[in-house]
Amino acid sequence: MRPVSDALVFFGATGDLAYKQIFPSLQGLVRDEGLDVPIIGVAKAGWSLDQLKARAKDSLSSHGCLDAKAFAKLTSLLRYVDGDYNDPSTYVRLRQELGDAKRPLHYLAIPPSLFGTVAEGLATLGAGMDARLVVEKPFGRDRESARQLDRILNRFFPEENIFRIDHYLGKEPVQNILYTRFSNAMFEPIWNRIYINSIQITMAEKFGVQDRGKFYDETGAIRDVFQNHMLQVLASLTMDPPTGEECDAIREQKAALLKAVRPLDAAHVVRGQYAGYQSVPGVKSDSTIETFVAAKLFIDSWRWAGVPIFIRAGKALPLTATEIMVDFKRPPRESFAEFIPPASGHMRIRISPDVTIALGLRVKHPGEGMQGQDVELILTEQESAFMPPYQRLLGDAMHGIGDLFGRQDIVDAQWRIVDSVLNENAPPIAYAQGSWGPKEASQLIGTDGPWHNPLPAAPGP
Ligand code: BG6
Repeated sequence: MRPVSDALVFFGATGDLAYKQIFPSLQGLVRDEGLDVPIIGVAKAGWSLDQLKARAKDSLSSHGCLDAKAFAKLTSLLRYVDGDYNDPSTYVRLRQELGDAKRPLHYLAIPPSLFGTVAEGLATLGAGMDARLVVEKPFGRDRESARQLDRILNRFFPEENIFRIDHYLGKEPVQNILYTRFSNAMFEPIWNRIYINSIQITMAEKFGVQDRGKFYDETGAIRDVFQNHMLQVLASLTMDPPTGEECDAIREQKAALLKAVRPLDAAHVVRGQYAGYQSVPGVKSDSTIETFVAAKLFIDSWRWAGVPIFIRAGKALPLTATEIMVDFKRPPRESFAEFIPPASGHMRIRISPDVTIALGLRVKHPGEGMQGQDVELILTEQESAFMPPYQRLLGDAMHGIGDLFGRQDIVDAQWRIVDSVLNENAPPIAYAQGSWGPKEASQLIGTDGPWHNPLPAAPGP
Protein backbone atom coordinates (compact mmCIF):
# COMPACT_ATOMS: atom_id res chain seq x y z
CA MET A 1 0.00 0.00 0.00
CA ARG A 2 1.33 3.39 -0.92
CA PRO A 3 0.98 6.14 1.70
CA VAL A 4 -1.83 8.63 1.18
CA SER A 5 -0.83 12.26 0.57
CA ASP A 6 -1.27 14.36 3.70
CA ALA A 7 -1.97 17.74 2.02
CA LEU A 8 -3.32 18.87 -1.33
CA VAL A 9 -1.88 22.00 -2.91
CA PHE A 10 -3.32 23.39 -6.13
CA PHE A 11 -1.55 26.04 -8.16
CA GLY A 12 -3.76 28.17 -10.39
CA ALA A 13 -6.38 28.36 -7.63
CA THR A 14 -8.10 31.43 -9.03
CA GLY A 15 -8.09 30.13 -12.62
CA ASP A 16 -10.53 28.61 -15.01
CA LEU A 17 -9.71 24.95 -14.39
CA ALA A 18 -10.06 25.35 -10.63
CA TYR A 19 -13.46 26.94 -11.17
CA LYS A 20 -14.69 24.39 -13.68
CA GLN A 21 -13.22 21.16 -12.35
CA ILE A 22 -11.17 21.36 -9.16
CA PHE A 23 -13.68 22.81 -6.67
CA PRO A 24 -16.42 20.31 -7.62
CA SER A 25 -13.88 17.47 -7.36
CA LEU A 26 -12.59 18.66 -3.98
CA GLN A 27 -16.12 18.85 -2.60
CA GLY A 28 -16.76 15.35 -4.01
CA LEU A 29 -13.59 13.99 -2.35
CA VAL A 30 -14.59 15.54 0.99
CA ARG A 31 -18.15 14.20 0.75
CA ASP A 32 -17.56 10.75 -0.76
CA GLU A 33 -14.10 9.82 0.44
CA GLY A 34 -13.72 11.75 3.69
CA LEU A 35 -10.79 13.86 2.43
CA ASP A 36 -9.54 15.54 5.61
CA VAL A 37 -6.16 17.17 4.94
CA PRO A 38 -5.11 20.79 4.44
CA ILE A 39 -6.14 22.00 0.97
CA ILE A 40 -4.02 24.94 -0.10
CA GLY A 41 -4.76 27.10 -3.12
CA VAL A 42 -1.86 29.08 -4.62
CA ALA A 43 -2.20 31.89 -7.16
CA LYS A 44 -1.07 35.41 -7.89
CA ALA A 45 -4.27 37.39 -7.88
CA GLY A 46 -4.04 39.65 -4.81
CA TRP A 47 -6.87 37.64 -3.25
CA SER A 48 -7.69 36.74 0.36
CA LEU A 49 -8.77 33.34 1.67
CA ASP A 50 -12.34 34.63 1.92
CA GLN A 51 -12.30 35.53 -1.76
CA LEU A 52 -11.12 32.04 -2.62
CA LYS A 53 -13.92 30.53 -0.51
CA ALA A 54 -16.45 32.76 -2.27
CA ARG A 55 -15.06 31.64 -5.63
CA ALA A 56 -15.37 27.98 -4.57
CA LYS A 57 -18.99 28.56 -3.55
CA ASP A 58 -19.74 30.31 -6.81
CA SER A 59 -18.16 27.44 -8.77
CA LEU A 60 -20.21 24.80 -6.93
CA SER A 61 -23.45 26.80 -7.25
CA SER A 62 -22.89 27.35 -10.96
CA HIS A 63 -22.43 23.56 -11.38
CA GLY A 64 -25.60 22.94 -9.36
CA CYS A 65 -23.72 20.72 -6.90
CA LEU A 66 -23.34 22.86 -3.77
CA ASP A 67 -23.73 20.54 -0.77
CA ALA A 68 -23.94 22.65 2.41
CA LYS A 69 -22.37 20.08 4.77
CA ALA A 70 -19.52 19.04 2.46
CA PHE A 71 -18.87 22.65 1.49
CA ALA A 72 -18.58 23.68 5.17
CA LYS A 73 -16.00 20.92 5.67
CA LEU A 74 -14.16 21.90 2.49
CA THR A 75 -13.88 25.55 3.54
CA SER A 76 -12.60 24.50 6.97
CA LEU A 77 -9.71 22.72 5.20
CA LEU A 78 -9.07 25.47 2.66
CA ARG A 79 -6.01 27.75 2.90
CA TYR A 80 -4.66 30.28 0.42
CA VAL A 81 -1.19 31.54 -0.51
CA ASP A 82 -1.09 34.56 -2.79
CA GLY A 83 2.24 35.00 -4.54
CA ASP A 84 4.33 35.00 -7.67
CA TYR A 85 5.57 31.55 -8.72
CA ASN A 86 9.03 33.05 -9.35
CA ASP A 87 9.27 34.54 -5.86
CA PRO A 88 11.00 32.31 -3.26
CA SER A 89 8.87 33.85 -0.46
CA THR A 90 5.77 32.23 -2.04
CA TYR A 91 7.25 28.81 -1.22
CA VAL A 92 8.26 29.92 2.28
CA ARG A 93 4.61 30.82 2.97
CA LEU A 94 3.44 27.59 1.38
CA ARG A 95 5.80 25.69 3.69
CA GLN A 96 4.18 27.42 6.67
CA GLU A 97 0.68 26.51 5.51
CA LEU A 98 1.75 22.90 5.02
CA GLY A 99 2.50 22.62 8.76
CA ASP A 100 3.52 19.05 9.60
CA ALA A 101 2.64 17.61 6.19
CA LYS A 102 5.40 15.37 4.80
CA ARG A 103 3.75 13.96 1.68
CA PRO A 104 1.89 16.78 -0.06
CA LEU A 105 0.33 16.40 -3.47
CA HIS A 106 0.93 19.43 -5.69
CA TYR A 107 -1.46 19.93 -8.56
CA LEU A 108 -0.20 22.29 -11.27
CA ALA A 109 -3.35 23.68 -12.89
CA ILE A 110 -1.20 26.29 -14.64
CA PRO A 111 0.29 26.76 -18.14
CA PRO A 112 3.03 24.22 -18.96
CA SER A 113 5.51 27.08 -19.44
CA LEU A 114 5.41 27.51 -15.63
CA PHE A 115 5.82 23.81 -14.68
CA GLY A 116 9.61 24.05 -14.45
CA THR A 117 9.56 27.24 -12.34
CA VAL A 118 7.08 25.79 -9.86
CA ALA A 119 8.82 22.38 -9.70
CA GLU A 120 12.04 24.17 -8.86
CA GLY A 121 10.26 26.27 -6.21
CA LEU A 122 8.74 23.15 -4.69
CA ALA A 123 12.16 21.56 -4.45
CA THR A 124 13.09 24.31 -1.96
CA LEU A 125 10.34 23.19 0.45
CA GLY A 126 12.87 21.10 2.25
CA ALA A 127 14.45 17.72 2.74
CA GLY A 128 12.29 14.83 3.87
CA MET A 129 9.36 15.79 1.64
CA ASP A 130 7.95 12.87 -0.32
CA ALA A 131 5.83 15.01 -2.59
CA ARG A 132 3.69 14.02 -5.57
CA LEU A 133 3.17 16.21 -8.60
CA VAL A 134 0.08 16.30 -10.80
CA VAL A 135 0.44 18.16 -14.11
CA GLU A 136 -2.27 19.16 -16.53
CA LYS A 137 -2.29 18.54 -20.23
CA PRO A 138 -1.06 19.58 -22.74
CA PHE A 139 2.24 18.18 -21.48
CA GLY A 140 4.65 20.21 -23.63
CA ARG A 141 3.99 21.67 -27.08
CA ASP A 142 5.64 18.95 -29.13
CA ARG A 143 7.84 15.90 -28.65
CA GLU A 144 11.03 17.82 -27.92
CA SER A 145 9.49 20.27 -25.43
CA ALA A 146 7.75 17.40 -23.61
CA ARG A 147 11.08 15.62 -23.31
CA GLN A 148 12.67 18.80 -21.98
CA LEU A 149 9.85 19.15 -19.45
CA ASP A 150 10.43 15.56 -18.34
CA ARG A 151 14.11 16.28 -17.79
CA ILE A 152 13.23 19.30 -15.61
CA LEU A 153 10.55 17.53 -13.57
CA ASN A 154 12.72 14.43 -13.12
CA ARG A 155 15.41 16.61 -11.52
CA PHE A 156 13.03 17.21 -8.63
CA PHE A 157 10.50 14.36 -8.72
CA PRO A 158 10.96 10.64 -9.42
CA GLU A 159 8.80 9.34 -12.30
CA GLU A 160 6.51 7.35 -9.95
CA ASN A 161 5.60 10.61 -8.17
CA ILE A 162 4.60 12.44 -11.39
CA PHE A 163 0.96 12.14 -12.47
CA ARG A 164 0.19 13.50 -15.96
CA ILE A 165 -3.54 14.16 -16.21
CA ASP A 166 -5.64 13.26 -19.20
CA HIS A 167 -9.14 13.48 -17.80
CA TYR A 168 -10.48 11.11 -20.49
CA LEU A 169 -8.73 8.30 -18.61
CA GLY A 170 -10.83 9.11 -15.55
CA LYS A 171 -14.05 8.74 -17.52
CA GLU A 172 -16.11 5.72 -16.61
CA PRO A 173 -17.10 4.92 -20.25
CA VAL A 174 -13.46 5.04 -21.37
CA GLN A 175 -12.59 2.49 -18.68
CA ASN A 176 -15.59 0.49 -19.82
CA ILE A 177 -14.02 0.08 -23.28
CA LEU A 178 -11.23 -1.95 -21.69
CA TYR A 179 -13.58 -3.73 -19.32
CA THR A 180 -16.03 -4.83 -22.00
CA ARG A 181 -13.26 -5.94 -24.36
CA PHE A 182 -11.31 -7.96 -21.84
CA SER A 183 -14.06 -9.34 -19.62
CA ASN A 184 -15.80 -11.18 -22.46
CA ALA A 185 -14.14 -13.88 -24.51
CA MET A 186 -16.23 -13.18 -27.61
CA PHE A 187 -14.63 -9.89 -28.71
CA GLU A 188 -10.95 -10.79 -28.77
CA PRO A 189 -11.13 -13.33 -31.65
CA ILE A 190 -12.78 -10.79 -33.95
CA TRP A 191 -10.90 -7.70 -32.80
CA ASN A 192 -8.45 -7.53 -35.67
CA ARG A 193 -7.81 -6.90 -39.37
CA ILE A 194 -9.63 -10.07 -40.42
CA TYR A 195 -13.01 -8.95 -39.06
CA ILE A 196 -12.75 -5.19 -38.75
CA ASN A 197 -13.04 -2.93 -41.77
CA SER A 198 -12.36 0.44 -40.21
CA ILE A 199 -12.64 2.41 -37.00
CA GLN A 200 -14.01 5.92 -36.54
CA ILE A 201 -13.78 8.14 -33.49
CA THR A 202 -15.66 11.44 -33.46
CA MET A 203 -15.39 14.03 -30.73
CA ALA A 204 -17.90 16.73 -31.62
CA GLU A 205 -18.48 19.89 -29.60
CA LYS A 206 -21.34 22.24 -30.36
CA PHE A 207 -19.73 25.16 -28.60
CA GLY A 208 -16.81 27.24 -29.86
CA VAL A 209 -13.72 28.19 -27.89
CA GLN A 210 -15.85 30.40 -25.60
CA ASP A 211 -13.73 32.48 -23.20
CA ARG A 212 -10.56 30.41 -23.82
CA GLY A 213 -9.45 32.28 -26.95
CA LYS A 214 -5.91 33.03 -25.79
CA PHE A 215 -5.22 29.49 -24.56
CA TYR A 216 -6.81 27.90 -27.59
CA ASP A 217 -5.04 30.10 -30.11
CA GLU A 218 -1.71 28.82 -28.77
CA THR A 219 -2.94 25.24 -28.78
CA GLY A 220 -5.38 24.16 -31.51
CA ALA A 221 -7.40 20.97 -31.81
CA ILE A 222 -4.43 18.64 -32.41
CA ARG A 223 -2.65 19.63 -29.20
CA ASP A 224 -5.84 20.25 -27.20
CA VAL A 225 -7.67 16.95 -27.69
CA PHE A 226 -6.19 14.80 -30.48
CA GLN A 227 -2.70 14.19 -29.08
CA ASN A 228 -4.15 13.21 -25.71
CA HIS A 229 -7.87 12.35 -25.35
CA MET A 230 -8.35 10.90 -28.84
CA LEU A 231 -5.14 8.85 -28.84
CA GLN A 232 -5.93 7.51 -25.37
CA VAL A 233 -9.36 6.39 -26.56
CA LEU A 234 -7.71 4.80 -29.60
CA ALA A 235 -5.21 2.98 -27.37
CA SER A 236 -7.99 1.60 -25.13
CA LEU A 237 -9.83 0.39 -28.19
CA THR A 238 -6.93 -1.29 -29.97
CA MET A 239 -4.30 -2.33 -27.37
CA ASP A 240 -3.50 -5.96 -26.65
CA PRO A 241 -4.89 -7.55 -23.49
CA PRO A 242 -2.87 -6.74 -20.38
CA THR A 243 -0.62 -9.53 -19.12
CA GLY A 244 1.03 -10.23 -15.77
CA GLU A 245 0.15 -8.86 -12.38
CA GLU A 246 2.04 -5.61 -12.46
CA CYS A 247 -0.22 -2.65 -11.73
CA ASP A 248 1.32 -1.09 -14.84
CA ALA A 249 0.12 -3.94 -17.10
CA ILE A 250 -2.43 -1.78 -18.92
CA ARG A 251 -0.04 1.09 -19.44
CA GLU A 252 2.56 -1.34 -20.82
CA GLN A 253 0.17 -2.45 -23.55
CA LYS A 254 -0.97 1.09 -24.29
CA ALA A 255 2.63 2.18 -24.70
CA ALA A 256 3.30 -0.73 -27.08
CA LEU A 257 0.22 0.14 -29.14
CA LEU A 258 0.96 3.85 -29.37
CA LYS A 259 4.53 3.12 -30.42
CA ALA A 260 3.09 1.11 -33.33
CA VAL A 261 0.87 3.92 -34.62
CA ARG A 262 2.37 5.34 -37.80
CA PRO A 263 3.29 9.06 -37.51
CA LEU A 264 0.65 11.22 -39.21
CA ASP A 265 1.11 12.00 -42.86
CA ALA A 266 0.08 15.60 -43.71
CA ALA A 267 -1.74 14.24 -46.80
CA HIS A 268 -4.03 12.32 -44.41
CA VAL A 269 -4.92 15.28 -42.22
CA VAL A 270 -7.64 17.89 -42.76
CA ARG A 271 -7.45 21.00 -40.60
CA GLY A 272 -10.43 23.33 -40.35
CA GLN A 273 -11.33 26.60 -38.63
CA TYR A 274 -14.90 27.66 -37.94
CA ALA A 275 -16.14 30.92 -39.42
CA GLY A 276 -16.02 33.64 -36.78
CA TYR A 277 -13.17 32.05 -34.76
CA GLN A 278 -10.81 34.95 -35.55
CA SER A 279 -13.17 37.41 -33.84
CA VAL A 280 -13.08 35.55 -30.51
CA PRO A 281 -11.33 37.69 -27.84
CA GLY A 282 -7.73 36.52 -27.42
CA VAL A 283 -7.53 35.02 -30.93
CA LYS A 284 -5.24 36.59 -33.56
CA SER A 285 -7.11 38.15 -36.46
CA ASP A 286 -5.01 36.14 -38.94
CA SER A 287 -4.84 32.98 -36.83
CA THR A 288 -3.96 29.71 -38.61
CA ILE A 289 -4.91 27.58 -35.61
CA GLU A 290 -7.25 24.67 -36.34
CA THR A 291 -10.53 24.24 -34.44
CA PHE A 292 -11.25 21.01 -36.34
CA VAL A 293 -9.05 18.11 -37.31
CA ALA A 294 -9.77 14.91 -39.19
CA ALA A 295 -7.04 12.34 -39.72
CA LYS A 296 -6.50 8.89 -41.14
CA LEU A 297 -4.17 6.69 -39.12
CA PHE A 298 -2.67 3.22 -39.35
CA ILE A 299 -1.31 0.91 -36.70
CA ASP A 300 1.66 -1.06 -37.96
CA SER A 301 1.06 -4.31 -36.11
CA TRP A 302 -0.01 -7.82 -37.13
CA ARG A 303 -3.39 -7.23 -35.52
CA TRP A 304 -4.18 -3.94 -37.25
CA ALA A 305 -2.12 -3.78 -40.47
CA GLY A 306 -4.18 -2.18 -43.24
CA VAL A 307 -7.17 -1.20 -41.07
CA PRO A 308 -7.83 2.53 -41.59
CA ILE A 309 -8.62 4.51 -38.47
CA PHE A 310 -10.35 7.85 -38.75
CA ILE A 311 -10.39 10.37 -35.95
CA ARG A 312 -12.07 13.76 -36.09
CA ALA A 313 -12.51 16.36 -33.39
CA GLY A 314 -13.89 19.83 -33.68
CA LYS A 315 -15.61 22.80 -32.13
CA ALA A 316 -18.77 24.55 -33.38
CA LEU A 317 -20.10 21.29 -34.85
CA PRO A 318 -23.83 20.43 -34.87
CA LEU A 319 -23.89 18.83 -31.41
CA THR A 320 -21.77 17.69 -28.48
CA ALA A 321 -21.01 13.97 -28.41
CA THR A 322 -18.06 11.60 -28.46
CA GLU A 323 -18.66 8.32 -30.21
CA ILE A 324 -16.70 5.38 -31.61
CA MET A 325 -17.84 3.27 -34.54
CA VAL A 326 -16.11 -0.03 -35.20
CA ASP A 327 -17.22 -1.25 -38.61
CA PHE A 328 -17.13 -5.05 -39.07
CA LYS A 329 -16.49 -6.67 -42.43
CA ARG A 330 -19.36 -8.19 -44.34
CA PRO A 331 -19.44 -11.99 -44.69
CA PRO A 332 -17.12 -13.16 -47.50
CA ARG A 333 -20.13 -13.75 -49.75
CA GLU A 334 -23.58 -12.14 -49.58
CA SER A 335 -26.12 -14.99 -49.61
CA PHE A 336 -29.21 -12.87 -50.21
CA ALA A 337 -29.53 -10.44 -53.09
CA GLU A 338 -30.18 -7.17 -51.31
CA PHE A 339 -28.62 -3.79 -50.71
CA ILE A 340 -26.64 -3.72 -47.44
CA PRO A 341 -26.07 -0.24 -45.98
CA PRO A 342 -22.56 0.66 -44.77
CA ALA A 343 -21.59 -0.25 -41.19
CA SER A 344 -24.52 -2.63 -40.86
CA GLY A 345 -22.35 -4.83 -38.64
CA HIS A 346 -20.76 -2.62 -36.04
CA MET A 347 -19.94 -1.88 -32.43
CA ARG A 348 -20.92 1.63 -31.34
CA ILE A 349 -19.47 3.05 -28.16
CA ARG A 350 -20.78 6.40 -27.06
CA ILE A 351 -18.66 8.05 -24.41
CA SER A 352 -20.56 11.28 -23.85
CA PRO A 353 -22.81 13.04 -23.07
CA ASP A 354 -24.79 9.84 -22.43
CA VAL A 355 -23.18 6.42 -22.44
CA THR A 356 -23.99 3.53 -24.79
CA ILE A 357 -22.32 0.33 -25.91
CA ALA A 358 -24.23 -1.28 -28.75
CA LEU A 359 -23.75 -4.03 -31.32
CA GLY A 360 -25.19 -3.47 -34.78
CA LEU A 361 -26.32 -6.63 -36.57
CA ARG A 362 -28.51 -7.63 -39.48
CA VAL A 363 -31.64 -9.74 -38.92
CA LYS A 364 -34.36 -10.86 -41.27
CA HIS A 365 -37.24 -8.51 -41.81
CA PRO A 366 -40.53 -10.40 -41.27
CA GLY A 367 -42.03 -11.42 -44.60
CA GLU A 368 -41.67 -13.78 -47.51
CA GLY A 369 -38.39 -12.48 -48.96
CA MET A 370 -34.95 -12.99 -47.46
CA GLN A 371 -34.63 -9.28 -46.83
CA GLY A 372 -32.94 -7.94 -43.77
CA GLN A 373 -32.89 -4.92 -41.51
CA ASP A 374 -30.29 -3.36 -39.26
CA VAL A 375 -30.85 -3.69 -35.53
CA GLU A 376 -28.81 -2.57 -32.57
CA LEU A 377 -28.41 -4.62 -29.45
CA ILE A 378 -27.80 -2.15 -26.64
CA LEU A 379 -25.39 -3.68 -24.13
CA THR A 380 -25.40 -0.75 -21.75
CA GLU A 381 -27.10 2.61 -21.68
CA GLN A 382 -26.75 5.24 -18.98
CA GLU A 383 -27.71 8.85 -18.82
CA SER A 384 -24.23 10.00 -17.88
CA ALA A 385 -21.10 8.88 -16.16
CA PHE A 386 -21.01 8.22 -12.46
CA MET A 387 -18.06 9.98 -10.85
CA PRO A 388 -16.62 13.18 -12.37
CA PRO A 389 -13.26 12.25 -13.94
CA TYR A 390 -11.28 14.88 -12.05
CA GLN A 391 -12.56 13.61 -8.72
CA ARG A 392 -11.58 10.06 -9.64
CA LEU A 393 -8.12 11.11 -10.82
CA LEU A 394 -7.31 13.43 -7.93
CA GLY A 395 -8.39 10.70 -5.49
CA ASP A 396 -6.12 8.17 -7.25
CA ALA A 397 -3.17 10.58 -7.24
CA MET A 398 -3.65 11.21 -3.49
CA HIS A 399 -3.29 7.42 -3.04
CA GLY A 400 -0.29 7.25 -5.38
CA ILE A 401 -2.16 5.10 -7.93
CA GLY A 402 -0.82 5.95 -11.37
CA ASP A 403 -2.71 3.55 -13.69
CA LEU A 404 -5.04 6.24 -15.04
CA PHE A 405 -2.30 8.79 -15.74
CA GLY A 406 0.00 9.36 -18.69
CA ARG A 407 3.45 7.83 -18.36
CA GLN A 408 6.60 9.40 -19.77
CA ASP A 409 6.95 6.87 -22.63
CA ILE A 410 3.22 7.00 -23.42
CA VAL A 411 3.12 10.78 -23.68
CA ASP A 412 6.29 10.62 -25.80
CA ALA A 413 4.67 8.07 -28.13
CA GLN A 414 1.60 10.32 -28.46
CA TRP A 415 3.73 13.31 -29.47
CA ARG A 416 5.64 11.09 -31.90
CA ILE A 417 2.38 10.45 -33.79
CA VAL A 418 1.41 14.11 -34.24
CA ASP A 419 4.82 15.80 -34.29
CA SER A 420 5.07 15.90 -38.10
CA VAL A 421 1.86 17.94 -38.49
CA LEU A 422 2.19 20.36 -35.58
CA ASN A 423 3.87 23.18 -37.39
CA GLU A 424 1.47 23.55 -40.29
CA ASN A 425 1.23 27.26 -40.95
CA ALA A 426 -1.03 26.90 -43.97
CA PRO A 427 -4.43 28.44 -43.26
CA PRO A 428 -6.93 25.80 -42.19
CA ILE A 429 -10.04 25.31 -44.33
CA ALA A 430 -12.98 27.45 -43.23
CA TYR A 431 -16.21 25.72 -42.22
CA ALA A 432 -19.59 27.05 -41.18
CA GLN A 433 -20.54 26.91 -37.50
CA GLY A 434 -22.99 24.09 -36.91
CA SER A 435 -21.67 22.03 -39.85
CA TRP A 436 -19.66 18.77 -39.67
CA GLY A 437 -16.45 20.58 -40.68
CA PRO A 438 -14.81 21.07 -44.09
CA LYS A 439 -16.05 18.87 -46.95
CA GLU A 440 -12.44 17.74 -47.43
CA ALA A 441 -13.01 15.53 -44.36
CA SER A 442 -15.50 13.51 -46.41
CA GLN A 443 -12.95 13.18 -49.20
CA LEU A 444 -10.42 11.95 -46.63
CA ILE A 445 -12.65 9.09 -45.53
CA GLY A 446 -13.68 8.38 -49.14
CA THR A 447 -14.96 4.85 -49.77
CA ASP A 448 -14.19 3.83 -46.17
CA GLY A 449 -16.99 6.22 -45.15
CA PRO A 450 -19.25 7.91 -44.80
CA TRP A 451 -18.47 9.43 -41.44
CA HIS A 452 -20.80 8.25 -38.75
CA ASN A 453 -22.38 11.38 -37.29
CA PRO A 454 -23.47 10.86 -33.66
CA LEU A 455 -27.10 11.68 -32.89
CA PRO A 456 -28.20 14.10 -30.18
CA ALA A 457 -28.78 12.63 -26.73
CA ALA A 458 -32.27 11.27 -26.26
CA PRO A 459 -34.38 13.59 -24.06
CA GLY A 460 -34.47 12.43 -20.41
CA PRO A 461 -37.59 10.92 -18.85
C1 BG6 B 1 -10.36 19.56 -22.61
C2 BG6 B 1 -10.12 20.50 -23.75
O1 BG6 B 1 -9.19 18.83 -22.30
O2 BG6 B 1 -11.39 18.64 -22.95
C3 BG6 B 1 -11.41 21.20 -24.14
O3 BG6 B 1 -9.15 21.45 -23.37
C4 BG6 B 1 -12.51 20.20 -24.40
O4 BG6 B 1 -11.21 22.01 -25.30
C5 BG6 B 1 -12.63 19.25 -23.22
O5 BG6 B 1 -13.72 20.93 -24.57
C6 BG6 B 1 -13.64 18.16 -23.48
O6 BG6 B 1 -13.83 17.39 -22.34
P1 BG6 B 1 -15.20 16.65 -22.05
O7 BG6 B 1 -14.96 15.88 -20.81
O8 BG6 B 1 -16.25 17.71 -21.90
O9 BG6 B 1 -15.45 15.78 -23.26
